[in-house]
Amino acid sequence: MTRAFRRVGTITRGTTHPNRLRRVDRWIAHTCASALRSSSDPVVVDHGYGAAAWTPRDLRDRLAVVRPDVSVVGIEIDPERVSAAMDYADETLSFRRGGFEVPLDFRAPVVIRAFNVLRQYDESEVGAAWRTMTSRLAPGGVLVEGTCDELGRHAWWVAMDTGSECRGR
Ligand SMILES: C[S@@+](CC[C@H](N)C(=O)[O-])C[C@H]1O[C@@H](n2cnc3c(N)ncnc32)[C@H](O)[C@@H]1O
Repeated sequence: MTRAFRRVGTITRGTTHPNRLRRVDRWIAHTCASALRSSSDPVVVDHGYGAAAWTPRDLRDRLAVVRPDVSVVGIEIDPERVSAAMDYADETLSFRRGGFEVPLDFRAPVVIRAFNVLRQYDESEVGAAWRTMTSRLAPGGVLVEGTCDELGRHAWWVAMDTGSECRGR
């Protein structure tokens, strides 16, 4: 049976940079260490990784220190960016096309990190995107959503779990 589904979201500017998300990578590695270590399926999503595969690769490298068999999945809504990233896939890093519905074939991520994605949407769309993404998390999982400047010197984020009250205005 084929499941019908809709990719939620739109392709936006793909600006990214190597090591751009180091601050939030380190925060995730520290804050989510025990959830990652105790998970039977340590999946982490880098949602909306942009025009190159740098940020999912950096995230995988930092989380592998905590959990060597971590599985980082880069999800992008732009099919050309997904094709381009495939050259960087390996045992613990993979890529797939998708939107806020976070398609993972029924795997539930311990962490979804979405950076510099929602800032390109209208504020009225943020609440629904948060709700959709948090609904995909494993029990005790966390959505880390935020933004930073071009080189990642300044970064801001919020962390939400499945029980968070996500309201859009
Ligand atoms: C500015 S880039 C951010 C790249 C990277 N996360 C970073 O911070 O350097 C935003 C990316 O998010 C993607 N995007 C936008 N909406 C999306 C959605 N609903 N689902 C998946 N990717 C999305 C865009 O196609 C774009 O490549």
